[in-house]
Amino acid sequence: MTPRGTGPYGAGDMREVVIGLLGAGNVGGGVARILQENQADIERRLGASVRVKKILVRNLERTRDATMPRALLTTDPREVLEDPEIRIVVELMGGIEPALTMILEALSRSKHVVTANKALMATHGKVLFAEAQRRGVAINFEAAVAGGIPILRALREGLASDRIERITGIVNGTCNYILDAMSRTGATYADALKDAQAAGFAEADPTLDVGGGDAAQKLSLLTLLAFGLRVDPAAIATEGITRVRSFDIAAADALGYVFKSLAEARQTPEGPALSVHPMLVPKEHILATVRGSYNAVLVESRAMGRSLYHGRGAGPMPTGMAVVSDIIELCRHIFAFDAGRPPPEAFSTIVEAVPRPTSDEAHENYLCVHVTNVPGILGRVASCLGRHEVSVKRLEQDLHGAGQAVDMVVVTERVPEARVRAAVAEIDGLDEVTGPTHRFRIREPDTIE
Ligand SMILES: NC(=O)c1ccc[n+]([C@@H]2O[C@H](COP(=O)([O-])OP(=O)(O)OC[C@H]3O[C@@H](n4cnc5c(N)ncnc54)[C@H](OP(=O)(O)O)[C@@H]3O)[C@@H](O)[C@H]2O)c1
Repeated sequence: MTPRGTGPYGAGDMREVVIGLLGAGNVGGGVARILQENQADIERRLGASVRVKKILVRNLERTRDATMPRALLTTDPREVLEDPEIRIVVELMGGIEPALTMILEALSRSKHVVTANKALMATHGKVLFAEAQRRGVAINFEAAVAGGIPILRALREGLASDRIERITGIVNGTCNYILDAMSRTGATYADALKDAQAAGFAEADPTLDVGGGDAAQKLSLLTLLAFGLRVDPAAIATEGITRVRSFDIAAADALGYVFKSLAEARQTPEGPALSVHPMLVPKEHILATVRGSYNAVLVESRAMGRSLYHGRGAGPMPTGMAVVSDIIELCRHIFAFDAGRPPPEAFSTIVEAVPRPTSDEAHENYLCVHVTNVPGILGRVASCLGRHEVSVKRLEQDLHGAGQAVDMVVVTERVPEARVRAAVAEIDGLDEVTGPTHRFRIREPDTIE
């Protein structure tokens, strides 16, 4: 921190925190714009100014916004990492390497770190927290989950005194955009994906988003904040949205549900129950109203009850806003540290955890059984369900002629996962069944009203 010569409060009266950026792409551009456009507000709230001294990029020749002048750009990471004046390093490159090595280098030089990198934090958070703690600095990553929504801050601060029962997130904007488009327009999955790509809401290679991997990484970070447990995202039961068909969307609609990709975390005596699945959500439920590329996180906690955090989960400005808020928080730590107070210890007691198996989870199910319409087929499907003690709540069958293909929709009562899996395996073995049964979970009711 250095005194600044000029400022809205007169010469020499404004403290200054010097920062360096690693990366100046979508989010980096948003950060630079917010720091410039909101400079007066930030200075008023912080009582100090934030100055970007260096920005690491790959390509110096790329055209960039005027908020990132050529003179600040470098391709040499040492100009950011080794500059003693830089107190906060902001990593916005993405990926694991070289981001991991550079952040460790910054921490080892006692620089605070802000990152938006969920993949890195979910997979290497433990080593990064340990190094930060060893050096007496902090690492903030609000933008890594649900972009601009301050959910990590809400869990860490606003709800710090509460006992959290369950977290349910719509944390992948691409999935929500696609499922919402399929519901509203009747589009197929493939057409909705193309539309999402054209509108900039899906990557050219959307695998990490539509396959659920991105949501699993975010769920791992939510679990850390909510329960103090570190879970490997690869160990989370994860299912993407690619199996959801227009037929399922329409059948769910007729039954009073909408499809949402939900990332859920619950504490149970057997360990955390974690999952990422496309699920049927009752239309009147608050999560059913989350539209387009928006994100939302529903927290159920003992004292507060239900609280919903809703907003834009991606994009340069929402994500940039979350990053700059993290920078402002760290500036406050720096002022406290320079005044002789150590930074707060975060995540000093992380417990490694393994999610409990999903086979003993119980829930209602939507089944779509593909059969040839022959006499007695309904009874045979019902017998398979009955043998595994799967009770039927509703059954809908299109009235087609004899011998024609039929999609038989079954809603089951609440039943353990292992039993419904066994029943579906038996159904799929029937001679009249023409293809694997489509099965999706129905969201469990809220634990707290
Ligand atoms: N985009 C979003 O809406 C969003 C939302 C939440 C979180 N995030 C996270 O934010 C981070 C950044 O995302 P983004 O969309 O801003 O990415 P991006 O547009 O691809 O920008 C990456 C930036 O990093 C620089 N870079 C990459 N590798 C580098 C290397 N090896 N050496 C030097 N510079 C390097 C690039 O330089 P050049 O410009 O020279 O190519 C570019 O400026 C990721 O971790 C992402 O998951 C993004």
